[in-house]
Amino acid sequence: MNQSEQWSTKLGFILSAAGSAIGLGAIWKFPYVAGVSGGGIFFLIFLFFTLVIGFPLLLAEFVIGRSTQQNAIQAYKVIAPNTKWYYIGYLGVITCFILLSFYSVVGGWIIIYIINTALGRLNGLNAAEYADIFGQTISNPLISISVHFLFMLITIIVVGKGVQNGIEKASKIMMPLLFILFTLLIIRSLTLPNASLGIKFLFYPDFSKVTSEGILAALGQSFFTLSVGVSVMVAYSSYVPKTTNLSKSALSIVCMNIFIVILAGLAIFPAVFSFGLKPDSGPVLLFQVLPNVFNQMTFGMFFFLLFLILFLFAALTSAFSMLEIIVGVIAKGNQKLRKKWSWIIGLAIFIFGIPSALSYGIWADFQLFDKIIFDVADYLVSNILMPIGALLISIFVPAKMKKSMIYEELQSEGPIPKALFQGWYVLVRYVAPIAIILVLFDLLGIWDTIF
Ligand code: PHE
Repeated sequence: MNQSEQWSTKLGFILSAAGSAIGLGAIWKFPYVAGVSGGGIFFLIFLFFTLVIGFPLLLAEFVIGRSTQQNAIQAYKVIAPNTKWYYIGYLGVITCFILLSFYSVVGGWIIIYIINTALGRLNGLNAAEYADIFGQTISNPLISISVHFLFMLITIIVVGKGVQNGIEKASKIMMPLLFILFTLLIIRSLTLPNASLGIKFLFYPDFSKVTSEGILAALGQSFFTLSVGVSVMVAYSSYVPKTTNLSKSALSIVCMNIFIVILAGLAIFPAVFSFGLKPDSGPVLLFQVLPNVFNQMTFGMFFFLLFLILFLFAALTSAFSMLEIIVGVIAKGNQKLRKKWSWIIGLAIFIFGIPSALSYGIWADFQLFDKIIFDVADYLVSNILMPIGALLISIFVPAKMKKSMIYEELQSEGPIPKALFQGWYVLVRYVAPIAIILVLFDLLGIWDTIF
């Protein structure tokens, strides 16, 4: 796509933005982070941050993108010429680079499962055997690097060709199918013995489990699932026609995301307790739990395969958006440059991600701050860089954009009640930055030092 091109349909934009948002964040990351951060209480805080901070900032990014019709760097330059605000765009580019480097490792794990399931290697095993097979495969350096490469390769080819518009057509079938398979999965999961323990874990907020780390993780999770804070949504909305209702689009993306998060939680946690697995197993959680549930279904492995393919698709559409924003900034709409830079950046991301791919195997002992490299990259992106990016956007919008102009931009499709607009503005201008600063400072222990 180049700058002057627009999404082929109104739905196209929503589907692509939703495609960027819905991915590993809701399906893989949410269950694992909720699992280590106290379950229900984490879900509640996550929900709060998503509605009160994530949603307003998603809309803010849409406004920046559509009002300027520029890429993630230029957009800031157009609004605030001769200032350094465009560094927000560069921060997004760097964040997406690191993010994609470990995202692709997890994407590779899905590919491993697709191969194993298709070859019938996962038929009828028990929970310990599933965990063993998975552990052995991801600790094998050759396998984990190869599938990480494969995932990056698909991403590079699609972004290099600039055919994301074509992908949007596929999403129309794949996304609803994913919902259907989730429903099947949940029915099976909820009818397992002891399933109620999982429901309680997911929805019952135990306030004694609140920690500074958990609050920050919930904040990071809400940005991660919505793709907010890295200007990806600025770039995507730059192609949106003025007739698209931005607020409705943002709201539908937020709702879909929350819905998927609940589906993923309902699919995973009942099974975790039923099979005697540990909710706090970390990033491997989903992969250890899922085969057990599918194994308990008639034609289970067939459904598992179908589920994995849709899951891979969801992960890829998010990956496309990460590489797209970087390449978009460099290639600036030039088709030839786009292809070349997709390869250069994509391969650089692959190489940068190799340590993450090895951190569940031969580099497991190589740790920073008591974390393996994969976890360091994940933590840096989700809990530091994305919140900082989001904070800067929440300061940028009220500081550099005229309120009346924003109001007009949001109303280009039809009138919006002033009170609603006012409410959103207060969330962006005051609530978001204050909350993000409070959470970050809380983590650094600054409050404890002051008081
Ligand atoms: N929202 C995506 C997911 O949940 C991840 C993502 C973050 C994509 C930031 C683009 C930018 O999987």
